[in-house]
Amino acid sequence: MNLADIQARETLFYANTFGRLPVAAVRGKGVYLYDINGARYLDFFAGIAVNSIGHCHPQVVKAIREQAGKLIHTSNWLYTLPQIDLAQRLEKLTGMEKCFISNDGTEAVECAIKLARKSTGKSGIIAMEQGFHGRTLGSLSLTWEDKYRKPYLPIVPYMTFAPYNDIKSAEKAITKNTAAVIVEPIQNEAGIIVPDAGYLRALRALTEEKGVLLILDEIATGFGRTGKMFAYQHEKIQPDIICLAKAMGGGFPIGATLYKGMDFEKGQHGGTFVGNPLACAAALASINVITKEHLDKKAAETGDYLMKKLMKDGHAAHGKGLMLGIDVPNGRKTVLDLIKKKILTIHSKNTVRVLPPLTIKKSHCDQFIKALNEVNPNGTKHY
Ligand SMILES: Cc1ncc(COP(=O)(O)O)c(C=O)c1O
Repeated sequence: MNLADIQARETLFYANTFGRLPVAAVRGKGVYLYDINGARYLDFFAGIAVNSIGHCHPQVVKAIREQAGKLIHTSNWLYTLPQIDLAQRLEKLTGMEKCFISNDGTEAVECAIKLARKSTGKSGIIAMEQGFHGRTLGSLSLTWEDKYRKPYLPIVPYMTFAPYNDIKSAEKAITKNTAAVIVEPIQNEAGIIVPDAGYLRALRALTEEKGVLLILDEIATGFGRTGKMFAYQHEKIQPDIICLAKAMGGGFPIGATLYKGMDFEKGQHGGTFVGNPLACAAALASINVITKEHLDKKAAETGDYLMKKLMKDGHAAHGKGLMLGIDVPNGRKTVLDLIKKKILTIHSKNTVRVLPPLTIKKSHCDQFIKALNEVNPNGTKHY
């Protein structure tokens, strides 16, 4: 079987949802992915900021194997230990009081929407222009891009948008019906947009003053990616609700919503699979690796090295830690050209997104920059 066969079968049998890159992955180890022909790629997007500890980390593989041999699923009619262990671990890391574990990012946001509405008795949530929070109808209603929303209108009402990085507009957007403001500390899908220093702090002060909840979507930024365990720690603030997913499970699907000063009543939220032992065991192992290996600090150091080299070579790079965007004349073309050089990245319009495992070394950064210089030779001067 070759790539063309797989592509033909995908077209026939799979939903027409994904604009995939021309690589069929079969195996991963550390910072590398191997395709169907055995070719090795340096993975510089890590499953969209998920494989932060690299592919198939031995600790996560071991935890999944051991847990799978003991107990995979029970539903939440019963107590299971990995779920409670993980909740406690996440609360210690974030300083929050309660935790609801879900299956992915969009579910973590759905939980936040329900909590905000239920605990305030108000229905409005303000999200940010260009922001992305997921694709189920609740989170989609907080996602900005028309192309994601338009086919499904009308979606959840009373969701509005304010310009990102603009505190005055956020203030104007708040009404008597506003339950919460939701924000990404760094916008991910928008193309790695970093707000001004002090923006999150000002948003925290504003929401506190107005009696409105602050929901931080740390789904992409969480678990060390930006150089701190959570991006809000750069601004030394404490949100009311935090949404987590992506890197948490070391590649295993899982999400979580952390909160304080509010709670559900029994039966108000749930799910058959949520918080299942296998996902929670994977997440506990993955978080252990991130904390023990200080991958947040490593992301800060390696990110700094990468950013400085990119700037020196004239690339229009922006971001924090190992969450970088590089503006290029043609995003998709650059990503495809990099694939020919056996490096995997993704793009948002004409921004190449660089979200590698936090375990990468300087030599991997050098390899990436050499390839980028070849495909985009004049950096910003190119266009
Ligand atoms: C900031 C942010 N929030 C939410 C989501 C949705 O997460 P998921 O794809 O796991 O549903 C994403 C996904 O890219 C994201 O980047």
